[in-house]
Amino acid sequence: MGNEASYVHLFETKKAKGIALYRLFAASVFVGICSIWAYRVSHLPRNGEDGRWVWIGLFAAEVWFGFYWLLTQALRWNPIYRHTFKDRLSQRYGNDLPGVDIFVCTADPLIEPPMMVINTVLSVMAYDYQQEKLSVYLSDDAGSYLTFYALMEASHFAKHWIPFCKKFNVEPRSPAAYFKSVSDSLDTKQAKELATVKKLYKEMEIRIEAAAKLGCLSEEMYLKHKGFSQWDSYVSQSDHDTMLQILIDGKDPIATDVEGCRLPTLVYLAREKRPQHFHNFKAGAMNALIRISSKISHGQIILNVDCDMYSNNSQSIRDALCFFMDEKKGPEIAYVQFPQNFDNITRNEIYSNSMRVINEVEFHGLDGYGGPLYIGTGCFHRRDTLCGRKFTPGSINEFKIENNVERDETIPELEENSKVFASCTYEKNTEWGKEMGLKYGCPVEDVITGLSIQSRGWKSVYYNPARKAFLGVATTTLGQTLVQHKRWSEGDFQILLSKYSPAWYAKGKISFGLQLGYCCYCFWASNSLAVLFYSIVPSLYLLKGISLFPQLSNPWFIPFAYVIISNYTYSLVEFLWSGGTVHGWWNDQRIWLYKRTSSYLFAFIDTIANSLEFSADSGFVITAKVSEQDAHNRYLKEIMEFGASSPMFTVLATSGLINLLCLAGFLKNVFINEGNFRFYETMMLQILLCSLLVLINWPLYQGLFLRKDNGKMPSSLAIKSIGFALLLPAFFSCIKFLLIFVFDYPYHVT
Ligand SMILES: *[C@@H]1O[C@H](CO)[C@@H](O)[C@H](O)[C@H]1NC(C)=O
Ligand SMILES: *[C@@H]1O[C@H](CO)[C@@H](O)[C@H](O)[C@H]1NC(C)=O
Repeated sequence: MGNEASYVHLFETKKAKGIALYRLFAASVFVGICSIWAYRVSHLPRNGEDGRWVWIGLFAAEVWFGFYWLLTQALRWNPIYRHTFKDRLSQRYGNDLPGVDIFVCTADPLIEPPMMVINTVLSVMAYDYQQEKLSVYLSDDAGSYLTFYALMEASHFAKHWIPFCKKFNVEPRSPAAYFKSVSDSLDTKQAKELATVKKLYKEMEIRIEAAAKLGCLSEEMYLKHKGFSQWDSYVSQSDHDTMLQILIDGKDPIATDVEGCRLPTLVYLAREKRPQHFHNFKAGAMNALIRISSKISHGQIILNVDCDMYSNNSQSIRDALCFFMDEKKGPEIAYVQFPQNFDNITRNEIYSNSMRVINEVEFHGLDGYGGPLYIGTGCFHRRDTLCGRKFTPGSINEFKIENNVERDETIPELEENSKVFASCTYEKNTEWGKEMGLKYGCPVEDVITGLSIQSRGWKSVYYNPARKAFLGVATTTLGQTLVQHKRWSEGDFQILLSKYSPAWYAKGKISFGLQLGYCCYCFWASNSLAVLFYSIVPSLYLLKGISLFPQLSNPWFIPFAYVIISNYTYSLVEFLWSGGTVHGWWNDQRIWLYKRTSSYLFAFIDTIANSLEFSADSGFVITAKVSEQDAHNRYLKEIMEFGASSPMFTVLATSGLINLLCLAGFLKNVFINEGNFRFYETMMLQILLCSLLVLINWPLYQGLFLRKDNGKMPSSLAIKSIGFALLLPAFFSCIKFLLIFVFDYPYHVT
């Protein structure tokens, strides 16, 4: 293998093209931003003049936008792209590859139906990998017998499904996704076997759905598997013993599929829960899985997927191993993160739920500075780094390749002896949740865990192949989307304020560019105030006829125009380049606004209140990932779903109505003044801003006034928002008078 030059790598890294051009462009935008700041400072209205406070507010918002824009440059400054050579991996290592443990986490059989969960499980069981080196663990935080039952059914079905996949090289290997994609025009042999396997699947589905409908464990089911006896002592979801069942033991030579080939190990785990012990959500479940799996299979690579993310490519393990097993660059790589892609995206993504730009642009940028965030799904880890190992320069890969090790315990013994690892008290006085495993105490445990791994000297890799490796279920209503973003932005903001903040904890431990990249996400929530101010106040001043921006003939107009036009053009180009549509981009702008004025706002308020020791949780519940039928039809038709009453919608509707009223009022003034065109000259930017806000809010007005279906805004909410929209200007004037009174009073007395 010799020196660097002659070593043939298992993967390659390419720099993006046109970087110099982009940097030049970014520099010109920065000049524009500075000019805007200069304008604000040099044209500050005098004391007592109307608009002084608003002017200062706008300046603060613009400083914030400029600062945040700088942060986002870290994600675009230095993008890189990865490519793997799986053929070289096979040539070099053959079957001497490490064991892989796959963790699937589920938490609620209603939100995450067992059929969806087992489709994910089956898709990862069918990876193209030596079956005896593959182990799949399902962690069920609901401790639901129904999920267990479904998994047991899946373990039988796998005996038909896996050989079928291998024989015909089927893709994707989630049965539901495959059956949906396949047409009947297959050659006869495959068609016949397909019909058989499909029939088995349908029968299984009927049994599982019948069990779900029944709503309790029947005598007949109870007798089907000895594992059900574990529910004898079950009290509730938050009070039960550890339930651990090895459904398939991959080391057992008789555990074979219908063709006589070995099967992967399959394990069901519901860790112990007690009301007096806090369970630490998904991080707690992951840590229990890490310990249990180290006893049962001890795979050196761990893949973690959400229960709704099936594998869309049976080669993904080999892709990931190309990074880990590269002798030169592999030893410094702690984890390989795949993007989070979705199955349920409509063409113009009305909720902007594909996260296109994050996946196709931003994460490549993070990769250029040392590696992406760990996002909690679709990620391959080294077991030992996840357990806290520090990076030591010059280390080499030491994957223990174990072929056919004998075990000296029987399966029931192994189950019994392993249970202690998932008990409530196991972690007491240990480093679990701190230096070992996933970190506790943060709603986005994954991001903070990834950051701490990188802070220990490790690199990570972002691998985004054209054919997507994992496909999940996207949010399909506005409410779900906003709640999801509230949780993310709140968690990220908490990280920023915590002792593990990328701003100070990671200083000097990860590259400066990566620090900025993390901050970009951690500062999501704090965008809310500036955007809210900018989307309401200029419109109110438009109504009052007070200009807050340079007029058209003023040279200072140029930087504003340049920054606006160049940023929007760039964002459109970036969106199209990432595979989106123009209409999709327009929808994305709307969701950009809605996230910032509702999700981020509530996340910001809750986090600040919590850090000031008020316990605040505006507690939005996550609704089911499977939506009801007519709501789902509206999603397919890309009609925005309001339906429920939520404080988030009230904020959106109020700010949307204020803009509508301001624009209407302004137009009325213009007509009364018989088309005084001076307005257009002096207030050009405010008119533009207000009109754009009205245009982008069009679906919201439809939901308020024009629609009749169940997805419209509830009338109570409509009335409330109209009230707020009418009162807010008055409220705003009071605040302004108060400010003037407090700060400017001395000047007025003279
Ligand atoms: C996802 O979308 C497809 C069609 O686009 C639909 O048939 C399926 O039910 C959806 N799944 C969920 C969980 O909403
Ligand atoms: C999923 O895999 C199939 C092949 O089985 C491929 O045709 C499809 O494009 C993949 N989906 C995505 C989103 O890449």
